[in-house]
Amino acid sequence: MTSITMTRPDDWHLHLRDGEALAAVVGDTARQFSRAIIMPNLRPPVTTTEQALAYREHILTAVAGAGVAAERFTPLMTLYLTNNTSAEEIRLAKASGHVYAVKLYPAGATTNSDAGVTDLLGHCTAALEALQACGMPLLVHGEVTDPGIDVFDREAIFIDRVMVPLRRAFPELKVVFEHITTREGAHYVRDAEGPVAATITPQHMLYNRNALFTGGVRPHWYCLPILKREVHREALVEAATGGSPRFFLGTDSAPHARGLKEHACGCAGCYTALHAMALYAQAFEAVDRLDKLEAFASFHGPDFYGLPRNTDTLTLVREETRVPDELPFGNTTLVPLAAGESLAWRALVDTATA
Ligand code: NCD
Ligand code: ZN
Repeated sequence: MTSITMTRPDDWHLHLRDGEALAAVVGDTARQFSRAIIMPNLRPPVTTTEQALAYREHILTAVAGAGVAAERFTPLMTLYLTNNTSAEEIRLAKASGHVYAVKLYPAGATTNSDAGVTDLLGHCTAALEALQACGMPLLVHGEVTDPGIDVFDREAIFIDRVMVPLRRAFPELKVVFEHITTREGAHYVRDAEGPVAATITPQHMLYNRNALFTGGVRPHWYCLPILKREVHREALVEAATGGSPRFFLGTDSAPHARGLKEHACGCAGCYTALHAMALYAQAFEAVDRLDKLEAFASFHGPDFYGLPRNTDTLTLVREETRVPDELPFGNTTLVPLAAGESLAWRALVDTATA
């Protein structure tokens, strides 16, 4: 096979930041994907509909600045759930027509999550009821933050401590277990009853935790949830490529300036928007399941969210392509995942807009 033409994909988990960083990265996503779920973990976080709509305007301006036509890319906004999010705020979000989900960050779990939730069923039942009633998905960063729990076990323990009680209390609530990284996460989503799904990143399909320590500490492979053992990577590959509609594409592309990654206390996040579809194609081809890529990238996400599938296409060509060592990022630079390595596939982005 030398090329694949597929329904244009969407990215169901993306960090775009704001300001210069947004301007630097948004074109990479907008040239490959038709829509993206925009994560709200800015500083300060996007907790209200009003803030989400203002942030949306920044994104639309940046898309135009990147030379991509407005009708080619739609940002799907989200709100950041806090202990104080009201049912009224959820209803406002739904009525806006631009907010598509609410994100749960357990307080302290990851980058910019200090304002996150400390006790989901203790503080957020009104918001959860409103979400369930209006059919808006809750997106979950699924890690406990208890410092007594080993960092590699935080996702598996989250299932028992938070996911199971949440879904028992709100069985009709649509829940997306974001960026799953474990066999436990994949099997939980596969087997659970009711409207639950998961996003899977390219890095968790391509690498196990050895990538963090190959010849030394490799900060550009550090993201949260952290890469796990090989058995977990294999379970994620099986989930993503197995055809189940519960699993779909979410890059979790999370840009951080080079100097903040290569640091004594380096930031979590991998930049994958540049070459996202090539990375996924690499992972699907490795298990001979390229035929399953389109459904994972372009069908299962909109089906779960209750949105129409895209009608235009994206073509990938088999063409050995070297990942750049770094990219411009405001007045600094950004190192993409797998910098300097070669990928077998390349997405044909519209050169008129590139
Ligand atoms: C994300 C970021 O940088 O905003 N980092 C990451 O490692 N994935 C936050 C997140 O999604 O956890
Ligand atoms: Zn994320």
